Amino acid sequence: MIDSAHTPDPNPLGSLDDWEDDVKRRYPEPAAAGATVAQLTAATAAQAAAPFVATNPEKKNEEFRDYRAEARASVKEFYRLNHTYQSYDFVQQKRAEFLPRTHARMGVWEALEFLNTLVDDSDPDTDVPQIEHCLQTAEAIRRDGHPRWFILTGLIHDLGKILCLRGEPQWCVVGDTFPVGCQFSTSIVFPEFFGENPDSREPRFQSDCGVYERHCGLDRVTMSWGHDEYLYHVVKDHLPEPALYMIRYHSFYPGHRERAYDHLMSEHDQKLFAAVRAFNPYDLYTKSESRPNVTALRPFYEELIAEYFPPQLAW
Ligand SMILES: [Fe+2]
Repeated sequence: MIDSAHTPDPNPLGSLDDWEDDVKRRYPEPAAAGATVAQLTAATAAQAAAPFVATNPEKKNEEFRDYRAEARASVKEFYRLNHTYQSYDFVQQKRAEFLPRTHARMGVWEALEFLNTLVDDSDPDTDVPQIEHCLQTAEAIRRDGHPRWFILTGLIHDLGKILCLRGEPQWCVVGDTFPVGCQFSTSIVFPEFFGENPDSREPRFQSDCGVYERHCGLDRVTMSWGHDEYLYHVVKDHLPEPALYMIRYHSFYPGHRERAYDHLMSEHDQKLFAAVRAFNPYDLYTKSESRPNVTALRPFYEELIAEYFPPQLAW
């Protein structure tokens, strides 16, 4: 008989937003706010020549201690589950399950409304509906005069979270992403939880490159499973490449913030990560802004969606 009192809760977060709030706590300052994609491309190309370091040597021990001490118990438990179960074999199973995209046919606005049915357990008085988060991100990008594809990317970047509505646990949908099939970087939040991951005992995965060639490019690297990779496959035929990088790697904080996986990235990845870094401030720091009027904004976004997407997509 299962003792329910001692069975770990598969969904410890009160809300999916608790993970993003924790990311914002770890990264309180935007890394590259205000820069254009073109400016960031130039900056990133110069930085690409820098030698690989597994962890950020500038980061003091106190900072590592801080995030541990300050993390909420629910968030810590969420990372424990994520790091314990996101193994190479597990990710292959999830890819086989979801990447054929035979679960539904839906338009983009319909998917936004579907995502909005996701009801989290946190305080309903302070909870902002998911669709408003999507519009806050998009509107901030629009206000800064960025291209239409960039605005659209802001709108849709979290649509992969509909995986939660298919019964997937939180640790399979959100969380910082990282490569599997190679050594787990100590720059990933709570790296000690990888001790329970079966891949920590797999000899092939114990070097910095593991099963991959050095600088092979991220397209050849299998990332931990979550909403980024899923949505990338849903939209990949319809958006320009910088948009696809933003979608596919926006949760890859060990890559775009910590630079812990430069040894797997190609020069092309380095150039396109300028786009990921340009997007990140809009993702993290726009959620406390004023609540958008969904009805008033809908016509603008319906037109934008139709400019890039067919009426239905395979999910
Ligand atoms: Fe996201």
